Amino acid sequence: MGKQSYSNNVITVSWDSEVCFHSAVCVNKLGTVFNPNKKPWIDINAEDAEKIKAVIGKCPSGALTFEMASQTQENTGSESVTIKIAENGPLLVNGSILLEDATGKRIETKAIFALCRCGASENKPFCDGSHKKIGFKG
Ligand code: SF4
Ligand code: FES
Repeated sequence: MGKQSYSNNVITVSWDSEVCFHSAVCVNKLGTVFNPNKKPWIDINAEDAEKIKAVIGKCPSGALTFEMASQTQENTGSESVTIKIAENGPLLVNGSILLEDATGKRIETKAIFALCRCGASENKPFCDGSHKKIGFKG
């Protein structure tokens, strides 16, 4: 599916399906805007842009980003790097790090992203939500 963007005259919200691992943080915090039972599933006109921005800042995978009027403003992450182990899920990375593959080639990352810990992701090294399908425990 890739990246989808939704715009009005205040905000553009983008969602990258490749890295979303369906934590449902957005859905639970602001279901009026993020509702997977609707098409499109993101309705940026349902709430104030400030509320939407606040929830985007809590997306643990970095799948959600926003752009205000003329300035791009990705989820910038923390100044110091934190890596949190999600229960039965990925490693949640928050902060700017250098990620390399086995050959030393740099892998582009956002400031917030999730690394697969279960081995089942089809988008390694990133989590794609497959840990739920395989019932990963750990
Ligand atoms: S990973 Fe982000 S975009 Fe995907 S469901 Fe969770 S909060 Fe929403
Ligand atoms: S930890 Fe999410 S797909 Fe592996």
